[in-house]
Amino acid sequence: MKHSLLSLACGLGMAASSVIAHAGEVEVLHWWTSGGEAKSVQLLKDTIEAQGNQWKDFAIAGGGGESAMTVLKTRAVSGNPPSAAQIKGDDIQEWGRLGFLADLNNVAEQDHWQQFLPKVAQQIIMHEDDYVAVPVNIHRVNWLWANPKVFAEVGVAIPVTLDDFFAAAEKIKQAGYIPLAHGGGQPWQNVTLFEAVALAVLGPEDYQKAFVELDMSILNSPKMVEVFTQFRRMKEYVDPKYRGNSWNTATAMVSNGEAAMQIMGDWAKGEFAADGKVAGQDYICVAAPGTHGQFTYNIDSFAFFKLSDEENRKAQEDLARAILDEGFQTSFNLNKGSIPIRMDMALDSFDQCAKDSMATFKDTAENGGLVPSVSQGLATTSYVQAAIFDVVSNFFNAKTADPKQAAHRLARAVKAAM
Ligand code: GAL
Repeated sequence: MKHSLLSLACGLGMAASSVIAHAGEVEVLHWWTSGGEAKSVQLLKDTIEAQGNQWKDFAIAGGGGESAMTVLKTRAVSGNPPSAAQIKGDDIQEWGRLGFLADLNNVAEQDHWQQFLPKVAQQIIMHEDDYVAVPVNIHRVNWLWANPKVFAEVGVAIPVTLDDFFAAAEKIKQAGYIPLAHGGGQPWQNVTLFEAVALAVLGPEDYQKAFVELDMSILNSPKMVEVFTQFRRMKEYVDPKYRGNSWNTATAMVSNGEAAMQIMGDWAKGEFAADGKVAGQDYICVAAPGTHGQFTYNIDSFAFFKLSDEENRKAQEDLARAILDEGFQTSFNLNKGSIPIRMDMALDSFDQCAKDSMATFKDTAENGGLVPSVSQGLATTSYVQAAIFDVVSNFFNAKTADPKQAAHRLARAVKAAM
């Protein structure tokens, strides 16, 4: 049995390190249900099955993972957690503090994680001195996706600064296209737009002070009023029906030429790819206006829950190993739109957007300009994040809005949630 599973896995071209024939089950909670995301999950499932383990899919739709996190809490407190769950940022620490997570120290040591994982990822996946999660990828969030045909038709250049953005958006609107595709169906998508504007207006240092250090002198400042002012201006250029859209329907609008642009993390690239579109040809990626050379990061990770069944525990380790396998990192991230989490890999098969992303990630990690995404749960606790989501979304959706009042509200809400 062991022998035949091994040959099956080798036949499928699996890397030797991920071929360990245990017959356990891994139940994996995730929210990757859009076209590009589902393709990426399928790869993980195939890898696990080729190891001889069983994959039990636990998919909860809803980008950003809010619904998934709610379901996870219910399962975990009833004593029946999945083997692994997509959990990010500070939430991993919280699950760790509550004592739910298993440690992966053996795998991490044997496979030398320390040698190839970037520092920011190590901080996220370690609780105290233990590795409790495995990172899958790095998504850059501050991207602008543009349809070059629409730009050519209107005769405007793809914007580099915020001023360029508003000037181009006005012309695109007059030409009868939707300037900015936006999925406002969920608060995290409004915050994705907001944080891009905040990074442009505040710069990386004040962004970090505001959303990571929760510094009131920035949260409640004229600079933050300016962030809200510019953010609200964007509302003039989104589809009037934006509240009914999800992020991937917004991406489809850029892909099919109904809209000119979208500001969204590079999981959007997974959608373009699933739609058969080619980077640099059918769509263009540039840094979100005013954020050139800066990098807002989102790192997807799977945290591992304590299990009693020995085979299932071994299967968890197989999953962790498989995720960091170089071959898997290539195929998964090509589909997902992200870049590998391993810093020691060649990116030959990746497109220019991914190559730019990696170069900017490495440069900003070294020289400054690397900031965590608020909308993706990487910057602060889930409580503070929820407070920011509320204030920002209510402000964007309201009929009339007062940026000065919004900055006050933001500071007050963050303080109450700290
Ligand atoms: C994010 C996740 C990404 C992406 C997006 C939309 O939270 O980190 O991987 O897929 O949601 O579902």
